[in-house]
Amino acid sequence: MISKSEIIDSLENNGGDFLAIANIEAYAEKVIKFGKQVYTIDEKGLLLAYILFYDNNPVLYISMVWTHPDFRGRGLAKNLLQQIINQTDKVIQLEVHKKNPAKYLYEKLNFRCTGTNNEMLTMQCDSAKTLNA
Ligand SMILES: CC(C)(COP(=O)(O)OP(=O)(O)OC[C@H]1O[C@@H](n2cnc3c(N)ncnc32)[C@H](O)[C@@H]1OP(=O)(O)O)[C@@H](O)C(=O)NCCC(=O)NCCS
Repeated sequence: MISKSEIIDSLENNGGDFLAIANIEAYAEKVIKFGKQVYTIDEKGLLLAYILFYDNNPVLYISMVWTHPDFRGRGLAKNLLQQIINQTDKVIQLEVHKKNPAKYLYEKLNFRCTGTNNEMLTMQCDSAKTLNA
């Protein structure tokens, strides 16, 4: 289980340029309380990557995708996203800043843009279970 302080630390120090979270502490508290998480840690317990999401029937909403800066470009975020896609039968949604290169990661996993809101894109993907039904 990822702790509140790990979330705060990751987003305060290595979140990148496109995360507009007004209050990271409040964000972390809420997502720990109501959200779910998948993550990768190394053998020493260092947090390498995580995805935080809400299971909002009928939609699974991805709130944050993060990879440690020293471990980016190795497929960690892609693997975690694929895990979620494989395990749910819900439509998966997320929002990403228009200029955030993270959108290319989502496109590779067949997320498609379904709308825009100011600087943000809404993207959506059907789960593998739905696609294979
Ligand atoms: C976005 C982020 C999670 C990507 O993590 P990552 O572990 O490096 O991504 P992966 O290595 O799994 O990338 C998977 C694919 O997405 C593509 N991709 C990922 N980041 C990319 C980038 N910055 N530019 C272009 N393509 C990118 C890769 O080309 C890769 O394709 P491939 O499988 O053909 O090689 C990471 O850069 C990050 O933590 N950014 C800061 C936080 C953030 O902005 N999160 C998104 C919030 S919506």
